[in-house]
Amino acid sequence: MTSIVAALGGSLLRPEIENKHLWLDDLISIIRDRVVMGDRLGLVIGGGAPAREGIDLARPLINDDYHLDKIGIAATRLNATIIREAISEAGISVSGIIPSSVNEAVQLLEEKPVVVMGGTIPGHTTDAVAIRFAIAASAKKCIIATNVDRVYDEDPRLNPDTKAHDYLNHEELQKIVGPPEHKKAGQSSVVDPIGVFEASKAKLELNILDGRISNTLRRAMEGSEFDGTVISSER
Ligand code: UTP
Repeated sequence: MTSIVAALGGSLLRPEIENKHLWLDDLISIIRDRVVMGDRLGLVIGGGAPAREGIDLARPLINDDYHLDKIGIAATRLNATIIREAISEAGISVSGIIPSSVNEAVQLLEEKPVVVMGGTIPGHTTDAVAIRFAIAASAKKCIIATNVDRVYDEDPRLNPDTKAHDYLNHEELQKIVGPPEHKKAGQSSVVDPIGVFEASKAKLELNILDGRISNTLRRAMEGSEFDGTVISSER
């Protein structure tokens, strides 16, 4: 039995394609196949569009990022609910509630093969939650499924000539994402720097990949070679 935790960026849930539900269909098929193989899956869902929209709406009225973070967390829990309900409807055994802490999530994963959650408390993003969940559940690795195909030295939208990485160690990744501090509510880098710091201490393998490509996500979930960046302390 293998335990895997994946952070699924909120943007994946609302793809800019006509049949928006197709990504969710593929995700359910991947989850079903892993559960049939006896794996345990922790899925931590990001806030995406509703988080950005809610935080932008409230920002002129609310000064303190702690309170804006709570709006972001509510959006992550909305997205987690969409995914949990869809998994349950597909007849896959999934925990009945969206846990609000990592400890609760770890306990639920002992009872059910799939646990879906969102954010927990202000001060970080769902990447950091997924990394903590993976460490606490002694998971094999933590997948960070986002909307870029690899880790680059710089944002490739700003510098198209920037270098892409297939392998990095945690220290190299930390240099790229910056020191372990919480950015403003709703702002993010390729992986949460607080999460990277904790993964580094725990020597937890991270797989960073483009979650829009279902086959890439499937391959990382099943432990095959995949298109993306592997972060390992063994480099
Ligand atoms: P996300 O995890 O979605 O952040 O949380 P993100 O990296 O900006 O977006 P994705 O990965 O593309 O979806 C959205 C916001 O919710 C708050 C933060 O303000 C974060 O930016 N949040 C989330 C928390 O404060 N704590 C949490 O545990 C999770």
